[in-house]
Amino acid sequence: MYVIPSDRIGIQVIFSLIMKHLKIISSPVELRLLDFGLKGDLIVNQTRFIKDMAGIFQDVETFYKLDPELPVYTVQAWLPVKEGTEGGLFFGTSTIFPGKVNQEYFMTKGHFHEKSDRAEFYLGVQGTGMLILMDRARNTWAEEVFPGSLHYIDGDIAHRLANTGRDNLIVGACWPSDAGHDYEEISLTGFSARLIDVGEKAVLVEMN
Ligand SMILES: [Fe+2]
Repeated sequence: MYVIPSDRIGIQVIFSLIMKHLKIISSPVELRLLDFGLKGDLIVNQTRFIKDMAGIFQDVETFYKLDPELPVYTVQAWLPVKEGTEGGLFFGTSTIFPGKVNQEYFMTKGHFHEKSDRAEFYLGVQGTGMLILMDRARNTWAEEVFPGSLHYIDGDIAHRLANTGRDNLIVGACWPSDAGHDYEEISLTGFSARLIDVGEKAVLVEMN
C-alpha cells in the first residue's frame, strides 16, 4: 500500500484551503432501507382504498360488503422533473396490503403506459406476490415477486401487482417521466385473467 508522506498531506491541506470549494449537497430524497419508504419534501403520496377500487374485483357482492375505507395499496413517488419531460426518470414504491375479495388477492388497478415504447423496472423488496402482465392481444401471464426479484416491463405491456402473502408486498419502480399512465383501458376491459387463491396457492385463471 502506498502511504502519502506526512509533509505531502500538509501541502494538500494548504491547497484545499486556498482552492475554490465546490458544492457538496445531500440528495433531497432518502430511501429508508428498513421499510423502503421515501422521505423528503418532494415525495408524492397516494393511497387507494376499497372505495377507489370499484370494478376491479370479480366478486362485486363481497366487494361492497368490505369497509370502503380499508386501504388496498399505497404509492410513493419521487418526480424530480415535470410529468411528461422527455429524458427524465421517476422513482416510486408501492405497498400492497395483504387481503382478498373472496378468493381474489388485493392488487393494484393496473395500467398501460400512454407511450407504448416507455419501459419500466420493478424490484421486489418485501413480501410475496405476483406481477401480472398483459400484452395488447390480451395474452396474460405473471412473474413471481419476492425480495430481490427484478422485473423488466416492456413499454406496451399492461402491469399490475397482487399481494399473495400475509405481509405487506413492497415493490420499487423506476420509469421514464414521459411514459404516462393509461388506467382507462384496464378499467373498461380489465385483464384477461385473474389471480385467485385456490387452497393457499396463487393460480392465474383465464377469464376471456
Ligand atoms: Fe407503469
